[in-house]
Amino acid sequence: MSRARPFRFDRREGVFHLLDQRLLPMQERWIQARSAADAADAIRTMVVRGAPAIGVTAAYGMVLAQLSGEDLPAADHGLRGSRPTAVNLSHALDAMRPHWGDERAMLRAAEEVWTEVELTERAIGLHGAAVLRGQVLTHCNTGPLATGGYGTALGAIVEAFRQGRVRHVWVDETRPYMQGTRLTTWELSRFGVPFTLITDSTAAWMMSQGQVDAVILGADRMAMNGDFANKIGSYGLAVLARYHGISFYTALPTSTVDPQLRTGADIPIEQRDGDELRCVGPHRLASADVPVANPAFDVTPHHLITGVVTERGVLYPPFDEALRGALD
Ligand code: MRU
Repeated sequence: MSRARPFRFDRREGVFHLLDQRLLPMQERWIQARSAADAADAIRTMVVRGAPAIGVTAAYGMVLAQLSGEDLPAADHGLRGSRPTAVNLSHALDAMRPHWGDERAMLRAAEEVWTEVELTERAIGLHGAAVLRGQVLTHCNTGPLATGGYGTALGAIVEAFRQGRVRHVWVDETRPYMQGTRLTTWELSRFGVPFTLITDSTAAWMMSQGQVDAVILGADRMAMNGDFANKIGSYGLAVLARYHGISFYTALPTSTVDPQLRTGADIPIEQRDGDELRCVGPHRLASADVPVANPAFDVTPHHLITGVVTERGVLYPPFDEALRGALD
């Protein structure tokens, strides 16, 4: 089956249509964004999520702002603040800024942001497939839903399956937002890739049983030394992979590398609402006054990474040197 599209732009209507990822896989409902505020809201409330998809949505958010006569600096500010960790958001907004006021140029620039996602992910899939084999474990959701293209880590997994290199995927449920349970299983089913869903805490056991040949996941922001932020739980998987002697890869477009950051210590980590832990869907499991820590991301130190899969090839340590070369 074809890849799912998380959004589409209707120029005639001036509407950016978004597949509401909060309802997947049970319902496929589309939401209409008609302003930058609508787009920012969709990002903040997780209608759309995943670093590259957030970037594309922000770019079209600025197109909507131009079409509906909004104040462009205010629209840019609102979108920039919608989620703090993924650098793709500011990268996309920076690409739009030189074209403010010119409707056609803004539309072209937004299309370019989206096209770049597709082109880079084709290459990421091919480079990533070459390092995978057997059974792989992945975390969160890094497929077409998270990017608008072919996916990063999931794109590499699907390509490796097509090439006969990967035969099975362990899918972490990815608490508390369950991107693995709800979205990655849905996408792997559509692609016909064999998988098994596990709780996050099962990963160590599967590794100890020789059931995992490699871990591959995505990234929301990488510092120039290779430290990177990704969905909470990624750091734990890197520690586990090292302990068990298993390869650990992250797959990302080079636009996810933040040249302003020397190390991961400066990556802003989004803290989300405690009810994401206290409740499961509409069901409350803990009372509203139970104290909760809910960081949406963690930072994996570069020394735990085997390789970084980019559109320019797979980078290996020392990552500071490799990243400088890749960004040149
Ligand atoms: O909170 P989310 O669902 O936006 O988190 C998504 C991730 O952590 C992905 O791994 C990351 O954005 C890379 S997507 C290709």
